Amino acid sequence: MTKNIIITSALPYANGEIHLGHIVSTYLPADIFARFCRSNNINVVFTCATDDFGTPILLQSEKEKTTPDKYIDFWNKRDLEDFTKLGISFDFFHKTSSTENIKLTQYFFQKILENNLIYKKEISQLYCKQDNKYLPDRYVLGTCPYCNENDQYSDGCEKCGRVFTDREILKPRCAICNKTPKLKTSMHYFFKLSLLSSKLKTWLTNNSNLQNDVKNYVIKWIDDGLNDWDITRDIKWGVPIPLEEAKNKVLYGWFDNHLAYISSAIKFLNDNGKDGKTFWNESDIYHFIGKDIVYHHYLFLPAMRLGIEEEYKLPNYIPTRGHLTLQAKKISKSRNWYIGLKDFLRIFPADYLRFYLVSINPYSQDDLNFDWDEFATKINSELIGNFGNLVNRALGFTIKAFDGVVPGPEEFDDMDKESEKKIKELVLDMGKLMEQNHLDRALKKILQFSTHFNQYFQHKEPWKKGPGTNSCVYLSVNAVRSLAVAIYPFLPKSSQKIWLQLGMDGNVSAQSFDEISNIVIKRGHRLGEISPLFEKVEESVIEEQKTKLGTGI
Ligand code: 2FM
Ligand code: ZN
Repeated sequence: MTKNIIITSALPYANGEIHLGHIVSTYLPADIFARFCRSNNINVVFTCATDDFGTPILLQSEKEKTTPDKYIDFWNKRDLEDFTKLGISFDFFHKTSSTENIKLTQYFFQKILENNLIYKKEISQLYCKQDNKYLPDRYVLGTCPYCNENDQYSDGCEKCGRVFTDREILKPRCAICNKTPKLKTSMHYFFKLSLLSSKLKTWLTNNSNLQNDVKNYVIKWIDDGLNDWDITRDIKWGVPIPLEEAKNKVLYGWFDNHLAYISSAIKFLNDNGKDGKTFWNESDIYHFIGKDIVYHHYLFLPAMRLGIEEEYKLPNYIPTRGHLTLQAKKISKSRNWYIGLKDFLRIFPADYLRFYLVSINPYSQDDLNFDWDEFATKINSELIGNFGNLVNRALGFTIKAFDGVVPGPEEFDDMDKESEKKIKELVLDMGKLMEQNHLDRALKKILQFSTHFNQYFQHKEPWKKGPGTNSCVYLSVNAVRSLAVAIYPFLPKSSQKIWLQLGMDGNVSAQSFDEISNIVIKRGHRLGEISPLFEKVEESVIEEQKTKLGTGI
């Protein structure tokens, strides 16, 4: 792995609370990966920001009779609070409406314009006479022109993933008053996406880090022909177009939002005494996203960077994951078929959610399902019954039988040797999987490791104090230490608790991942105080959670 890595998670709209659907594809995998990289002594910058501009936010702030500025400030603070509670370790959480991002966006616009990749065109736009305004994007609802799905917003279809415009959507209606809008002309700026088709295709084809299935359907979109991209909106809430002639217009939210990946990382780096731009261009860049925004990240985003001659490096990786369903039904806020992060964390520890969501989350576009019963089973049997059990047993027994002082080993028999080998091989087994973003599979390796040590402990029956007891305790305590370091990216809070119970100094986050495979705890080491790591999830609590849900479809 390289020395510098920049990791970003898709930006949440500053428009409502973070729910479990958001966590699965982007924030949690990105955080685990960031923690893993830091443990490998890589210089990591992990940034995110709220996505502040666009019509839904303007609409909602109007509805709530506040200003968009105040509205986004509220959500920016609230989102960061929620993320922090889940242990998402952003180095910096910024805003797309920051001065840095507005400047960078205007710089991109001007450069792309100079490079003859932007042209002006008068177009007819949907306009609502009742509300006296143009109706871009989410101000219009209608039917998808590609797959005929009803109730889609005019900027794209949630069902088939295609992106389109308010001129293409079928049976349009105004999202405010429900009336049918009329067309009215307006001057817009277009980005010549079509002209960049072959450059985009080459970039996609040559980048072997991108997931093949996503890459292939994006290439198919290119082969079908890309439309030029309307980057103007006739509203007041957005990045102003830096041209006198376009005073009442702003840039489309998808023109500026992903630039906050760059502007936030660079601001953080500059504020910390580094040359942010150089660091960006010398890093491996990861943009973690959910599959609903593939179009924007595999086409718009690279096209804009290509449009200014790669002055800012393109991503090396765009880890893309599927959607979350809840109890096998589509998540819907309006139907109360969703779980807010804050509510969840009032009831269960953050590490329970992290454990469960990673364990069901492959590195692919497959959708996954949050199921309350499965959640309880996984926590009770895998996290507590297997992992927690080993920690408790190994440390509890050492306290009870050896007064908390680790005994030295005797000569190893075959079973001891096999267990020692497991410790030595754990990092190889799981490190590669982590690097490749197969986080669920890496977690499985950790659980297999603890299964092995549970069996080893059971088989050796150290409570009988026969020959081999000391070796068993010595190796089991060391296995717990390895587990604490290995599980750190996944369950940061629990791993620190184990670290303290082991009587180790400092913070587990400072341990290097390579150290997982070393036998570090020696004869005479004194353990810390122990207490149960986890509490069982009771069925009654699960049943209560289910009753909080509304009606899904
Ligand atoms: O779809 C969304 O929720 C957008 N707010 C994601 C933006 S990611 C970006 F900035 F590229
Ligand atoms: Zn569609």
